[in-house]
Amino acid sequence: MTDAAIAAFSGPGGLDPTQLGRLVDQLPVLIWSSDLDLRVTSRRGGGLALLDPPPAPDEGLRVGDAIEDPAEVARVIEAHETALRGTATTYAVSVRGRTFSARVEPLRDAAGAICGVAGVALDITDRRRAENALQASENRLRAIIESEPECVKLVDHQGRLLDMNPAGLEMIQAANLEQVRGMLIGEVVAPEHREAFNHLHQRVFAGESGTLEFEIVGLHGKHRWLTTHAVPLRDASGRIQASLGITRDITEARRAEEQLRASRGALRSLATRQQDVREDERTRIAREIHDSLGQALTALKLQLVAAQEMADAKAPEIAARLCETAGMVDDLVKIVRRIASDLRPPILDQLGLPAAVEWLAQDFSRRSGIACDVTLLPVNDAITDDLATALFRIVQEGLTNVSRHAGASQVEIGLGVSGGSVTLEISDDGRGITEAATTGPQSLGILGMRERAAALGGVLEVVPRPDGGTRVSAWFPPVPR
Ligand SMILES: Nc1ncnc2c1ncn2[C@@H]1O[C@H](COP(=O)(O)OP(=O)(O)OP(=O)(O)O)[C@@H](O)[C@H]1O
Ligand SMILES: [Mg+2]
Repeated sequence: MTDAAIAAFSGPGGLDPTQLGRLVDQLPVLIWSSDLDLRVTSRRGGGLALLDPPPAPDEGLRVGDAIEDPAEVARVIEAHETALRGTATTYAVSVRGRTFSARVEPLRDAAGAICGVAGVALDITDRRRAENALQASENRLRAIIESEPECVKLVDHQGRLLDMNPAGLEMIQAANLEQVRGMLIGEVVAPEHREAFNHLHQRVFAGESGTLEFEIVGLHGKHRWLTTHAVPLRDASGRIQASLGITRDITEARRAEEQLRASRGALRSLATRQQDVREDERTRIAREIHDSLGQALTALKLQLVAAQEMADAKAPEIAARLCETAGMVDDLVKIVRRIASDLRPPILDQLGLPAAVEWLAQDFSRRSGIACDVTLLPVNDAITDDLATALFRIVQEGLTNVSRHAGASQVEIGLGVSGGSVTLEISDDGRGITEAATTGPQSLGILGMRERAAALGGVLEVVPRPDGGTRVSAWFPPVPR
């Protein structure tokens, strides 16, 4: 506004030019006028004070004199000349480090002829800086998202794709964003996963966040497994604008996991099968040794006794030898029995697991000198033959470990059934097992115990007891009938 304009503005009862001028001096604006030769004829406004150093006094000042950059000066003069030709022009200009948005228009005399230029400029330095900073931060964010190896996408309330980074486009086999912007993103989700996918989408628009694993079929038919984490994206007023999803391709990881699971399963069946075969072999060999060898030795013993009786009167020396030999055969029978029993204690098959565990404990105490306490709750028919063999072998290995590694003075064995599931515990008061020993590659005994349990759907753990010593605990599910 020029002085003339200010005068026109202040009608009866309005602001007078002085009051208006004072107000203008407090605003971050510059107001000026020039004559036809672009000599500055008047200048006002709080914007003047923002310029550092302040511009020279008005005397002889021309348009553009306060501006340092010659290119900017040329642009400003061009705008003023355009105004002199009758057209108002808008431009931005930098003056001493500050940015102004300016507008110049023709200034006319009372007869309506153009007699100069009137200009107004608003200081937009701070706004420009904020805009630039925002732009820079947006660019930075965009660069991060563009180079992010995971899919980043925005989906609107209706499930339509708003934005997606290159990694995401690659996942759904799209050539570019334009090809898929606006499409219903659920369409690439495999049909059997759509319901869960839509459910998560609705939850996000209800303000929750969530994670989902699902399969997609890309635009060119490629199947992939993905895992996504979706959160609501809100605008400044807190309204949910979009669902923001970060999605990772887990196809390879899943395949590896499946292969691992399959190979674990195969190994387990192999181990189980080997144990079964070994158990059968042992039973067969034990029976063979017991029956054939035992009977042969018994027959031998009878023969020796008969021969001894015959020799008694006629050849007492031979009789004494034969008696000695018969004694040796007795020892041999004992050895054979022990070997057979070690292979597969007949007591397990004949009298069942509780008796076999009692026998194991006694035998262990006798051999090692470590006290062994057995608590057996009635186990009735919850224990199948397979389970009995597994429990027996676990107790056997557990006790062997106690005598070999624990340095214990006391062992407790507890066997019980509750609600159809069978539990077994072997606790010693020795030095206690270390974490490394339970998982180390050398721990084949413990691994064997675990595998035996797992083969029957059970779990077994070996842990140090809080009060010292080691505890082996096994749990088996109820046997299905
Ligand atoms: N009751 C226990 N007290 C203390 N340490 C134990 C006990 N049982 C096992 N350990 C430790 O755990 C390790 C692994 O036991 P594991 O039965 O698997 O193997 P091992 O007895 O050394 O050999 P094997 O394969 O002949 O059984 C042992 O070497 C021992 O250090
Ligand atoms: Mg062992």
